[in-house]
Amino acid sequence: MGSTIIVGGFFGDEGKGKIVAHMAFADKPTIIARGGIGPNAGHTIEVRGQKFGVRMIPSGFVYANARLLIGAGVLVDPRVLLSEIELVGEAKRVGVDHRCAIIEQKHITLDKEDPHLSLTIGSTGTGCGPAAADRARRTTIQASEVQELEPFLTDVAAETNQALKANENVILEGSQGFGISLYYGIFPYVTSKDTTASQIAADVGVGPTRIDETIVVFKTFPTRVGEGPFKTQMSEEEAKKLQIEEFGTVTGRQRRIGWWDPKMAAYSAMINGATQVAITGLDKLDPNVRGVDRYDDLSTKVKTFLRQAEDEVGIPFTLLSTGPELAEIIDLREEKLYHA
Ligand code: GTP
Ligand code: IMP
Ligand code: MG
Repeated sequence: MGSTIIVGGFFGDEGKGKIVAHMAFADKPTIIARGGIGPNAGHTIEVRGQKFGVRMIPSGFVYANARLLIGAGVLVDPRVLLSEIELVGEAKRVGVDHRCAIIEQKHITLDKEDPHLSLTIGSTGTGCGPAAADRARRTTIQASEVQELEPFLTDVAAETNQALKANENVILEGSQGFGISLYYGIFPYVTSKDTTASQIAADVGVGPTRIDETIVVFKTFPTRVGEGPFKTQMSEEEAKKLQIEEFGTVTGRQRRIGWWDPKMAAYSAMINGATQVAITGLDKLDPNVRGVDRYDDLSTKVKTFLRQAEDEVGIPFTLLSTGPELAEIIDLREEKLYHA
């Protein structure tokens, strides 16, 4: 396996957390390193009925044998990070790149009070946009200057590249999604940085020639939180009738729900350079497949959807999620075959 990047293919909240956690148990990486913007992300992982939501530490924390690293590109809110470290209860595994930029209270206040950010864009209010702006102005402080972070400081790029040199497995975890990329989303309804695979590699400090696989995660019914265009959005009534409503991990806001968008999926897979696709929410398409863990046991409805989607995107769908629980997944990565 070597190195694998996991990124979101729609507007975020595709279920990257669950996919990363599954891959961690399956592939036994020595390092799970997070890229992406910062604590605006909210990953949900459900293991044996227990539900965890994390914003700063990598979602692979449920797998006990990997280093949990935060790359230099990520904005760190020390309060959020330290409380999550306590939640995980394994401080020794967590490493923060000494070059990470720090989110301070003033960034959070501005994010919540600036009407452009909080109302027009509908930001998460976690301080990410203002901190990213200050980082570009070169006025932020770095993780190396925060006393409480001292025990966790490391060179994430060096650790990760050393692991790859030693032929160990490494997972590079993205956050947010393609549709809210600062570069490729519909401006200005986007987050404060690019969200594609190349950005995640840069965030962690791994060069493009050292990436082996890029997995783009889609969900059967894309969702969007905050403002901005959403071409395939359905009405609230439709979502309610289908029983597929969702609420945000960080803000608790109701997510807008849409229909599968093959054009967006293909475009996003192209710019991410996807080598494989993971899809979540097959149980939302057909509740009868909830928990199915063998391809042959999927219903005709789901198999037909998968065949068509694989054809539209042009990349093999290798991780098929049939429910929020960690074990509810079909892993076809060994086969890497088209089913079309
Ligand atoms: P960001 O980094 O914030 O973009 O989040 P994320 O991609 O990690 O996704 P998040 O956890 O915010 O949202 C995904 C939601 O879908 C969570 O509530 C998961 O528990 C749930 N989920 C994941 N896979 C499946 C699935 O196959 N079926 C269903 N029904 N729910 C799923
Ligand atoms: P910000 O990143 O908090 O500035 O928010 C900018 C836009 O991106 C808003 O529309 C947010 O709702 C959206 N956004 C930011 N992070 C996430 C995420 O993790 N999942 C989904 N949407 C997000
Ligand atoms: Mg989320």
